[in-house]
Amino acid sequence: MPDLSGLPAGFLWGAATAAFAIEGDAENRGRSIWDRLCEQPGWIADGSTARVACDHVNRYEGDVRLMRELGLDAYRFSISWPRVQPGGKGPLSAAGLSFYDRLVDCLLEAGVQPWVTQYHWDLPEELQDAGGWAERDIVDRFADYAVSVHAALGDRVRHWATLNEPWCSAWLGYGSGEHAPGYGDHREAARASHYLLLAHGRAVAAMREQAPADHQLGIVLNLFPFRPDAGVEGADLGRVERAVDRLDGLQNRWWLDALLEGRYPGDLLVLLAGHLADVIEDGDLEEIAQPLDFLGVNYYHDAFLAAAPEGDGSDGSDGSDEETGPYPGVTGVMPAEARGEETAMGWPVTPDGLREVLLRVGRDYPAAPPLVVTENGSSWDDEPDDTGPGDRPDGGSGDDPRRVDYLYRHVAAVAAAAREGADVRGYFAWSLLDNFEWACGYSQRFGLLRVDFETLERTPRDSFHAYRRLIEAARTAR
Ligand code: FCB
Repeated sequence: MPDLSGLPAGFLWGAATAAFAIEGDAENRGRSIWDRLCEQPGWIADGSTARVACDHVNRYEGDVRLMRELGLDAYRFSISWPRVQPGGKGPLSAAGLSFYDRLVDCLLEAGVQPWVTQYHWDLPEELQDAGGWAERDIVDRFADYAVSVHAALGDRVRHWATLNEPWCSAWLGYGSGEHAPGYGDHREAARASHYLLLAHGRAVAAMREQAPADHQLGIVLNLFPFRPDAGVEGADLGRVERAVDRLDGLQNRWWLDALLEGRYPGDLLVLLAGHLADVIEDGDLEEIAQPLDFLGVNYYHDAFLAAAPEGDGSDGSDGSDEETGPYPGVTGVMPAEARGEETAMGWPVTPDGLREVLLRVGRDYPAAPPLVVTENGSSWDDEPDDTGPGDRPDGGSGDDPRRVDYLYRHVAAVAAAAREGADVRGYFAWSLLDNFEWACGYSQRFGLLRVDFETLERTPRDSFHAYRRLIEAARTAR
């Protein structure tokens, strides 16, 4: 059990999901850019779609019962834009909203606080056809959608995040094309990184006007600590340090500076100048920097960088070249070899990076609101015999010791950050259940609950019970 000392009173324990990844019921909603990507051969690793996913729309009551059994204080889920506003324009769909109405009521009855994310990547396809996040018109579209959903559910939902990981929407969606809409165009990605922030700002301002005083409004960023690997030395060091600074700029400072200080970092304005001509207008940055009640931080791993061998990386073979990678102007570096374990995603297990990012936000941004870890978790392959409901009294399907270890070490890192002064108020595990993991399809399993995608049966893993015990222990200590 991790040392939880230092976590503030009332610290929230939660779990998170995303609409597209779990809901299914695709025939009763509009289409999104992810539906389109799934239909194009070669984009999704296992060739799957999310038309059924976890069938959560039809099984949410059972899922909420499991959340209650887990002892969650809060559940973070996203609203499917094409479900509540098919086509991305016009009045909200009563049928689409009714699902969220029922879900919210069910959560409240179970004593679980709903935390809504308004956008977790499933843009209505029609809005992409009009240019998507790369055109200014999206700003009003999103604000209109967000404020309407807030008006519809705000009598019961107090916690609202506008966007999930806008860096991914911009740079993976439009820059490297790993995510929908699957484009490889740095100009579009740079434009999207401004319009996403502006859409957030406009939505927060409009929601604030109609929100009761106890509503908490925020946004969710994926922050990474980038560092030169310990082995980097000599002439390589300067090059790697410059790359680290640029990566930090694109991934972290761009978003944090704009949201919390109302300005973009000068080095990035220079880097992206060619792409941003006529994009940033007077008043935009003031509009972006709305006061926030919380900042959601998603964290999976840190990034140690090494110098790429000559002729490697600089030609784009490491995916980071000027034209197609998610990081413009970053060449000649590559991820350092992991020193320890790697998850099934190939991500290193680096809990200390979580402590570091939480402390960094407070240190570099004195105006930052309280932090909440809105996602953290790991994917592991199941053991070969770990495929169905177990015969153990707790219903466990067997061991997932590495998921438990990851969970405990990262929670310990959150507590360590709190002891060192980070103002962190909650932790959401990713994810409640196995789900459609974007370009990886169903081949990656992040769930505390195992999902059998043939029968759709949910089975608690050991990590589910480990998290339940952790939450219980934290409650007793309160
Ligand atoms: C985050 C996403 C989430 C999931 C996890 C593994 O970047 O927000 O939907 O893909 O990574």
